[in-house]
Parts: sequence; C-alpha cells; structure tokens
Amino acid sequence: MQTALREKMSLSGRLSVVTGGAKGLGFAMGEALAEAGSAVVVCDIDAEAGTAAAEAICSRHGVDARFVAVDVTSERGVSDAVREIEDGAGPIDVLVNNAGIVLHGALTDSTYEQWRKVMSVNLDGVFLMSREVGRRMVSRGSGSIVNISSMSGMIANVPQAQASYNASKAGVIMLTKSAAVEWAGSGVRVNSIAPGYMKTALTEPFFDAGGDQIETWMRMTPMGRPGTPDELGAAAVFLASEASSFMTGSILNIDGGYTAV
Ligand SMILES: NC(=O)c1ccc[n+]([C@@H]2O[C@H](COP(=O)([O-])OP(=O)(O)OC[C@H]3O[C@@H](n4cnc5c(N)ncnc54)[C@H](O)[C@@H]3O)[C@@H](O)[C@H]2O)c1
Repeated sequence: MQTALREKMSLSGRLSVVTGGAKGLGFAMGEALAEAGSAVVVCDIDAEAGTAAAEAICSRHGVDARFVAVDVTSERGVSDAVREIEDGAGPIDVLVNNAGIVLHGALTDSTYEQWRKVMSVNLDGVFLMSREVGRRMVSRGSGSIVNISSMSGMIANVPQAQASYNASKAGVIMLTKSAAVEWAGSGVRVNSIAPGYMKTALTEPFFDAGGDQIETWMRMTPMGRPGTPDELGAAAVFLASEASSFMTGSILNIDGGYTAV
C-alpha cells in the first residue's frame, strides 16, 4: 500500500469506542480498529465478556484496550460511561454504535413490552450514545461515528417475522442521515454499515436449527453463504479513518448481494 494511503487508513493515536464490543461483530470491529492502531474501549452490558474482549484486543494488538460497562438504554448510564471514558482514556475520536438485539414474532402477537425492548436497545441506544459523544465531537470539531444498522432497515426479512427489528434498523439509517446533515459543517462524519446475514451469537441459534429459514436466507443471498464477523472490519476502519473524509450520511451494504436482487 502507498504511504499516503496507509497514513489515511491509520488510526494511530485515536481512541475508538465500540458498543456491544464484547462479542460478535462489535468484537471483530474492535480488533480491526486496534489493528489499524487505535486504542479501543469495549462498551457492553456483559461485563465478563467485555473484560475478556478488552484483554484479548490488548494482548493481540498491543494497543491500550479497556472495558467500560454500559447499558445503552440508560440515559444516565450512557452519560456516566462517556464521562468515565473521556476522563480515563481521553477524547473519543471514533464511536461505533453496534449494540443490538433481535426478537422474532408475528406483529399481531407482539406485546408493547417486546416492541419497546428492541427499539430501546437498537434505536434509543444509538440516539443516547450519539448525542452524548456527538456533543463532545462537535465542540472539538472532529470525529467519526459508525452506526451498525442492517439490511433489515431496507427490506422486510422472510420467512421470520421481525417488525420491531426492521423498524429499529430503518430508524438507525434515518438517524445516521439526520446526524450526518446536522453535523456536516462541524467536522463530524456519521455513516452506517448495513450487514446482511452474519454468523454470530445473534444468529447462531437459527443457523444451528437449520431448516427452511436458513435455506431461504441462503437462497436469497446471491453469494449463498453468511458473512463472517471479520468481513466488516476493513469497512469499519475505512469509515472511522481519514480515508473516507468526503463520506457522511452513507449506508454501506455488506450483505453478500442480498439487497442487490
Ligand atoms: N449477526 C447478524 O446477522 C447481523 C446482521 C445485521 C446487523 N446486525 C447488527 O450488528 C450488531 C451486532 O450484532 P451481533 O450479531 O454481533 O450480535 P451479538 O449478540 O453477537 O452481540 C451483541 C452485543 O451487544 C451487547 N448488548 C446487548 N444489549 C446491550 C445493551 N443494552 N447495552 C450494551 N450492550 C448490549 C451484547 O452483550 C453483545 O455483546 C447489532 O446491532 C445487530 O443488529 C447483525
């Protein structure tokens, strides 16, 4: 790689925060950001897995990596965690809003509690983290936010019913565009990665169960396979870094071709 390009892709001297960074896609993106030279804060509701993830990132990549507990649905918890991070590790340069959950079930059978649970983690969590970190980034005049939405924010998945998840991810896409436009003149960029079916703890039970659902998922994915967590890493580094300096409000589909059909 040419030196100028390598420098643009480098995250050396930066501090990146990844919510839901204890496992799956968040952990893989934390590793990629560390590989590009960034210090990493793993933020998660799962303290045991989060601590282990930070230790693994530190020992594998030789960067400062630490765990800070956060429930992204708690307004108070988010503001305390962001203050703790900035007091302990310095200004946040990169925020990856990745924490998310899914519930399957027919709309007609869904309770309001189930709906709120999904919206609260997937959409309210992105709002709370973005507002808290975004305020600081705007006042400093720099920063990059990467929101993990989903192809489900653009298409309604079949055969499983998951209206709350799909609506929450459509919300993340629009929140990405709205924040990008509001902050475009402030040196803060906001983009989103929209993954297709990836093999992680979130989807493992479905892959393990197999059957019609998995056959449908793979038949509708032109590449005919699920993505692996490491296949998001380079995109996260690209969006976090100066290599994407003219990109804001963009949604990057990484879905094996699902949304191209
Ligand atoms: N796996 C897929 O196929 C797929 C596809 C498209 C989008 N996504 C999205 O990617 C993101 C990561 O998914 P994954 O597959 O790695 O999931 P995962 O279940 O493996 O990991 C999610 C992480 O988020 C954490 N988390 C959950 N609720 C939280 C909360 N309230 N506060 C803080 N942390 C919390 C969990 O502890 C876990 O570490 C999610 O937003 C998901 O919707 C996943």
